[in-house]
Amino acid sequence: MKKPSDHKTNREQLRQSIIGLGEKSIRKSYYPELQQRIAELEQSNRELQEEIIERQEAQASAKKLARQLQQSQKMEAIGTLAGGIAHDFNNILSAIIGYSELAQLHMLSDCDRKTCAAAKDLDRVLLASERAKELVRQILTFSRQQDYERTPLKLSQVVTDALSLLRSSLPQSVEIRTKIEIEDELIMGNATQIHQIVMNLGTNAKHAMGEGGGILTVEIDRIEIEPIDEKSKILQLAPGPYLLLKVCDNGCGMERAMLDKIFDPYFTTKPKDQGTGMGLAVVHGIVKSHNGLITVYSEPGKGTSFLVYLPQLVDLPAKKTISYSKEIPLGTERILLIDDEAMVARMQGRLLESLGYIVTVKTDPFQALETFTDVPQDFDVILTDMTMPKMNGAVLAQHLLEIRDDIPIILCTGFSELINETKALAIGVRAFAMKPLMRKSIAALVRKVLDSRP
Ligand SMILES: Nc1ncnc2c1ncn2[C@@H]1O[C@H](COP(=O)(O)OP(=O)(O)O)[C@@H](O)[C@H]1O
Ligand SMILES: [Mg+2]
Repeated sequence: MKKPSDHKTNREQLRQSIIGLGEKSIRKSYYPELQQRIAELEQSNRELQEEIIERQEAQASAKKLARQLQQSQKMEAIGTLAGGIAHDFNNILSAIIGYSELAQLHMLSDCDRKTCAAAKDLDRVLLASERAKELVRQILTFSRQQDYERTPLKLSQVVTDALSLLRSSLPQSVEIRTKIEIEDELIMGNATQIHQIVMNLGTNAKHAMGEGGGILTVEIDRIEIEPIDEKSKILQLAPGPYLLLKVCDNGCGMERAMLDKIFDPYFTTKPKDQGTGMGLAVVHGIVKSHNGLITVYSEPGKGTSFLVYLPQLVDLPAKKTISYSKEIPLGTERILLIDDEAMVARMQGRLLESLGYIVTVKTDPFQALETFTDVPQDFDVILTDMTMPKMNGAVLAQHLLEIRDDIPIILCTGFSELINETKALAIGVRAFAMKPLMRKSIAALVRKVLDSRP
């Protein structure tokens, strides 16, 4: 006799097999469609996941760039402030040094330098002033208000030279590995300043690696910044070819929070006798003054990489080569010279007169314009300063060219963010010269501009 529970089991089995049969037939008839649907769903799932990852990455990179932008704006503000103070302080310092020396001269006629207490005290004043002078020099470099002569440089060569200097200051436990992927590529720069970048980054790496030493890797490569590149869009790095200098160490690394502060002047984590906190501030200033960019990647315990982007000099300006000729070319043409700094204007006037030219000096651009408007044919070439309070050199040049479009104009500048050679030439200016102008190079430039008149 069958138990009621057996009946139940059988019924259940039957029900299951009927359902199974039904499903099988459903599966059979819908199978290809179902499979396709599943594949589609899987595909869109994958796409969604990829999109999520992409968005997360974009958000992270936007955050990082925003931080870098904020950082560079902060540095800009500190730089402007520090530069202004340093400039004024430099003038005060010149007076302190000048008058101390004069005072010593007066004294030496009356008493012996070795025994005179006041003269000794003045020696100390001068010694302290020397230190202040060095400090001002560093601050001016950081704030980019110091003008350094720039020439076309082979970056690989300058960096290799600097590394051999650095080698002697590193312990044996530090190994330097270089990977230089360029040869003759040029930048427009100042060799001393590029040396300073390598020395400062290298010295920091040495400290970060400590007693046990480590590996200092120095690489140079060439990269192209595209207009759509985030570095170009957000960090305002002009698109174009760059030489990328990488200095990496496997030292202690840094916490993220610290990365926002390391370029600040006087930020240091080192004991007083080891760090001034000016190293990276100076490097930052130098890189900016070369129209470049510096970024840093670091992780505690893993090490640090500094990336320095410097614009590659592609077209070698013709004028740079002529200043190497030995003979100083002379002339007798008539020059209109404009510089708002009377002392500089007088000095440049004398310099050009010493080359044989007839020079009319103006310190006011409006007066210069008036003079030229009256007698435009009385001048053969015009030399004007760029940065002047009432009217800058580029605007003046445009007015002058409206009066006489064939007048050759040479635009002279210290460091001005308002203009560069390409922009100057686009206005119709014939040549562009970086101050301070040496006698030999200005002689060559004036002669070249005059001789290439149509
Ligand atoms: N390669 C590096 N690894 C780890 N920390 C670094 C590195 N470079 C710089 N730092 C940190 O940044 C700080 C500021 O550097 P810097 O401006 O050169 O000043 P200083 O070296 O005089 O302290 C250092 O004190 C250090 O804490
Ligand atoms: Mg340092």
